[in-house]
Amino acid sequence: MNVNRRHLLAGTAGAAAVALTASACASEDGGDSAKTIGVAMPTKTSERWIFDGDNLKKAFEDEGYKVTLQYANDVPDDQVAQLETMVSQNVAALVVAAIDNKSLNGPLAQAKEADIPVIAYDRLILDTPNVDYYASFDNIQVGTLQGEYIVTALDLENQAGPFNIELFAGALTDNNTPYFFNGAWAVLEPYIAEGKLVVKSGEVELEQIATENWDGAIAQDRMDNLLSTHYKGEQVHAVLAPYDGISRGIVSSLESNNYTTLPVVTGQDAEIESLKYIIAGRQTSTVFKDTRDLATTAVEMVVALLDGKKPEVNDEETYDNGDHVIPAFLLTPVSVDVDNYQEVVVDSGYVDAADLQ
Ligand code: BGC
Repeated sequence: MNVNRRHLLAGTAGAAAVALTASACASEDGGDSAKTIGVAMPTKTSERWIFDGDNLKKAFEDEGYKVTLQYANDVPDDQVAQLETMVSQNVAALVVAAIDNKSLNGPLAQAKEADIPVIAYDRLILDTPNVDYYASFDNIQVGTLQGEYIVTALDLENQAGPFNIELFAGALTDNNTPYFFNGAWAVLEPYIAEGKLVVKSGEVELEQIATENWDGAIAQDRMDNLLSTHYKGEQVHAVLAPYDGISRGIVSSLESNNYTTLPVVTGQDAEIESLKYIIAGRQTSTVFKDTRDLATTAVEMVVALLDGKKPEVNDEETYDNGDHVIPAFLLTPVSVDVDNYQEVVVDSGYVDAADLQ
């Protein structure tokens, strides 16, 4: 790609530069001129983001683009630096899964200056006018599925209880965290109000139950504390866990506290390790979000934008980022447990059966 010329055009002709689009075009020197898309992912510590990055890279390359793919090890400042570099390299578009939803104003303002469109990927970026579209799942529905799983597994409609439950949420820096929790809370709260579900710790506020960086070890510590403080001689019957890494931390805590009959433990992402836990009866459920479809959705948005077209969206009201409502395409999450994992994640080709041995 003729970076300098593209940069000059972007700097001087504004939107006209964006209109000069095609996935690949001949450069003046006849060299390889594919445009580059900047993809910023949060971390490699969680399997799903590795799948996301790989899927995005492949899907963009299939469309004739080059890709610069960066992970920032859950360090917000590193992600800011990576985005600044991508903007300075004059990428054709940015696809960003934010670590800290409020830390990206600087690089996104630079992207706007350079007429680089920005797609918020899976996690909405807040308090900036410089986000164009949002590709994600129905994040409220993720929480609804987790809450409903607990209601069904404990048979709350028919059993008198009371059952003890503890609640965990994700990172407060992630816009999805309240959406997941609110979805689950709307399902669980009536049973808590009625006394069928009891949160012995009393910790039900997001700030109390959040897990920094979605870190399983932090969740494990919190579960250890909950058990030693509130469950002497008592059992916990269900744990709302928002993400598989957190679920496994909670299970480790329960097992090291001699739980032989484990409570219902939810999760999210259908990570291979958690699918193994589910098969072994150590974690109860997860929520599968097909990141192949999410990658395709984001790529289609970028391709449409760079072709001067309007990307397809299916939600123009749910995701207000504090500046404006971001037009979104939301995919559908699926609840997975030992009864349907084969059909949903193996038969669909998402996970290799051999990896679950
Ligand atoms: C994603 C989840 C993931 C979590 C931790 C959230 O933003 O939507 O799929 O489990 O981050 O990585």
